[in-house]
Amino acid sequence: MSTTTLSEAKMSHHDLLKDQVAIVTGSGRGIGLAIAKKLAGSGATTIITDITQESADAGSKEITDMGLKASGFVCNVTDTGSIEKMTTDVMNKYGRVDILVNNAGITKDTLLMRMKLEEWNAVIETNLTSVFKVTQSVIKNMSKANYGRVVNIASVIGMHGNFGQANYAASKAGVIALTKTIAKEYASKNITCNAIAPGFIDTPMTQKLKPEIKEKYLEFIPLKHFGQPEDVAEAAFYFCTGGSYVTGQVIVVDGGMFM
Ligand SMILES: NC(=O)c1ccc[n+]([C@@H]2O[C@H](COP(=O)([O-])OP(=O)(O)OC[C@H]3O[C@@H](n4cnc5c(N)ncnc54)[C@H](O)[C@@H]3O)[C@@H](O)[C@H]2O)c1
Repeated sequence: MSTTTLSEAKMSHHDLLKDQVAIVTGSGRGIGLAIAKKLAGSGATTIITDITQESADAGSKEITDMGLKASGFVCNVTDTGSIEKMTTDVMNKYGRVDILVNNAGITKDTLLMRMKLEEWNAVIETNLTSVFKVTQSVIKNMSKANYGRVVNIASVIGMHGNFGQANYAASKAGVIALTKTIAKEYASKNITCNAIAPGFIDTPMTQKLKPEIKEKYLEFIPLKHFGQPEDVAEAAFYFCTGGSYVTGQVIVVDGGMFM
């Protein structure tokens, strides 16, 4: 436990995560990239990981172009070898990992009746099994350092279910339960683990939805507009900077859609 000193209180926003290293999965674009930018803006060295080197580098370049610290690494979250290589490479280059944001995710929407086992498996593997694998790979280093912040990107769909999203809803519900388990197992190591459950956020994932479906969602959002990736980044930032006495929680960022 630490008490805030005057000099800490005076420390600028820009320095809050100085010297820290943050890995964000699937951060070549969308919510992951917005989270990485927010953490980099507070001084963290951000590890932009994505399924291809090109997408990781594209995200990383946006951050370095802002004069902030980032580096792109390949990490296919469905491939154990790729995860292990990324963790090893990051540890060899930087020697530490303070923050892990499990963000990579996909949808393969279709009604239960029509859902193929491959569509079920692909979403569970990418959205849920990945969180188990990447966290297991990274958290051993946090454990040794006796410090860590793990933030998992779940979804309101994981709390409420949705038509056409049996695979996605189950994967995100799993992420929430996994979050609470990690929180319990690692609290004694000064590692917190929390989840964010976004509602409808304007990214390539939702841009592919039909206009009439988007209109329908809007009717149920009291704040009357879709969320931006930056809205999710604010919640991630809270867990990584303040929030040291908060673990095993799910924060909903949905414009009031579910309440
Ligand atoms: N957009 C929303 O409305 C919304 C709502 C709730 C939750 N989420 C969650 O937020 C997270 C980010 O979504 P987004 O909206 O930014 O989507 P997005 O499609 O814009 O970005 C997803 C990123 O994950 C990467 N990715 C996909 N498969 C991967 C794999 N196997 N290995 C590594 N990277 C992989 C993609 O390349 C991409 O960069 C996801 O977990 C998603 O489920 C999104």
